[in-house]
Amino acid sequence: MQVFNEIGPLRQFLRHIRSQQQTIGFVPTMGAIHEGHLNLVRAAKTQNQVVVASIYVNPAQFNNLSDLEKYPRTLEKDISLFTAAGCDVLFYPDNQEMYGEPSKIKFDFGSLDKILEGVFRPGHFSGVALVVSKLFNIVTPDRAYFGQKDFQQFKIISQLVDELKFDLQLICIPTTREPDGLAMSSRNLRLNADDRKKALVLVQSLRYANDEIRKKTDFKKIRTEIQKRCTDLNVKLEYFELADRKNLSLLDTVKDNDQAILLMAAYAGEVRLIDNVFVE
Ligand code: PAJ
Repeated sequence: MQVFNEIGPLRQFLRHIRSQQQTIGFVPTMGAIHEGHLNLVRAAKTQNQVVVASIYVNPAQFNNLSDLEKYPRTLEKDISLFTAAGCDVLFYPDNQEMYGEPSKIKFDFGSLDKILEGVFRPGHFSGVALVVSKLFNIVTPDRAYFGQKDFQQFKIISQLVDELKFDLQLICIPTTREPDGLAMSSRNLRLNADDRKKALVLVQSLRYANDEIRKKTDFKKIRTEIQKRCTDLNVKLEYFELADRKNLSLLDTVKDNDQAILLMAAYAGEVRLIDNVFVE
């Protein structure tokens, strides 16, 4: 795997790749690589000749300084995992290369960034959109791969690509989970043994709610039960919502032909976790 820290040499290398009619699949990440990231690389590998991944912990998308400082950084291990998964190129820029001066550009996605994560992480999606726009302009991939784990982020990036006419295809890959169901996340590295057990409340709540929705149980009743489970475990629940999968507008009931999704954010100890499942 070739590693580039600078935009210029990466662009030159990718121009050469494109001149040979080879397609480029792109997997942007913030590092602390796990199987979830690697499954994006593997999917990219099956659909493209060249796979580019990036690792960049983007300050613009952190609304909490301590979260930014504590974000796990495991570069050596990340490089060997990406290499073993068949990644061809890694872009690993520093802040100077990506931003120079902090950017003044702000994105507003209308209703989509005012709900769910947007309520609890003001400015987060603007920062994501900014860095992803930069990365798309640098890499100019044919296809870009994102995880269902961050479904609202996927929707935001879909809107970004549509409106700014990025000439690429977006692909959403299902969430990779630990054997006990916990959604893989770089932040899981920060969970102590006790909080790791508590963290299971996310996937268990989502699966429970899915079953109850199929039994036509009232969603408010389901949410009350989940709030209670979290309180009993001393887990701080930020949101538990039912939404339309198309545009994430919030629902309080699922009609027969609705494509719905359940989404949740909660703290296991100090670590903020998110997860979601499609209602089926
Ligand atoms: P990061 O959290 O590192 O995630 C990188 C990509 O991996 C995202 O598309 C995310 O949805 C996906 N991913 C994370 N955990 C996953 C899992 N368990 N299963 C499947 N996919 C998973 O998301 C970001 O970084 C950043 O916001 C970024 C898009 C790189 C912009 O800075």
